[in-house]
Amino acid sequence: MTLHRSLEATLGVAFFSLSLIASPASAAPDAAAGKAKSQICSACHGEAGIAVVPGVPHLAAQPPLSVFYQLVQFREQRRLGGGMEALVATLSDQDMRDIGAHYASLPAPSAGQALAEKIAVGAQISRQSFCQSCHGENLQGQKHVPRIAGQSADYLALQLKNLRSGARADMDGTMGSAARALSDADIDALVAFASAKP
Ligand code: HEC
Ligand code: HEC
Repeated sequence: MTLHRSLEATLGVAFFSLSLIASPASAAPDAAAGKAKSQICSACHGEAGIAVVPGVPHLAAQPPLSVFYQLVQFREQRRLGGGMEALVATLSDQDMRDIGAHYASLPAPSAGQALAEKIAVGAQISRQSFCQSCHGENLQGQKHVPRIAGQSADYLALQLKNLRSGARADMDGTMGSAARALSDADIDALVAFASAKP
């Protein structure tokens, strides 16, 4: 299928193109400083990085680079949503690295619940669509690719629809092409699979 071929082609360039912008000189990320800097964030994302407001993403155990890149996207207004653009407008790159280190150090969210049949369908679509080649075998995320295991189901569904429509731009185009082929039913099943993944 053409989808699969184009995805295979993009898998190779994804990590390469990101590595070009991945390493500006900076101090080592400081998780303790990040904890202090993320006090205001707890109102929605929770003290432990487990969201306390429906539809808000959990940040616990996210790869640090993923949090960093998403915060940059919000600050540069390339990604909009939840008022995040305004909330991070004054954060420096170092603040964002520190905050990423803090959330990465927290224990992962516990798996949500979903119907077993939907989970099974979602697992199959995930294999066919190579979701795990980027998001990791257990959907735990890696490098700049977000963790989606145990993530809020409402949040995942909204993001997949936004990535599919282009309302949420993605940094290297790979996720947009992965999402474009998905039907609403595919998204429903994938969300069940990911949100219920331990
Ligand atoms: C008023 C509630 C609220 C506050 C306060 C808040 N956030 Fe958010 N955050 C959200 C919502 C809602 C989203 C999802 C936005 C979307 O739909 O794209 C989000 C998304 C994010 C994401 C993207 C996660 C991902 O996996 O893509 C990160 C990272 C993040 N917030 C970090 C922070 C940080 C750091 C702070 C504090 C400086 C903060 N947030 C404060 C509500 C909030
Ligand atoms: C080629 C690598 C790649 C593939 C394949 C891929 N993703 Fe992604 N995914 C990414 C990257 C990179 C991002 C971050 C996009 C951005 O914000 O720029 C992402 C973001 C996401 C997000 C938003 C999560 C968040 O917290 O912001 C969801 C949900 C997601 N992917 C689900 C999936 C699903 C489901 C599949 C399979 C249908 C899939 N992805 C396939 C690389 C990939």
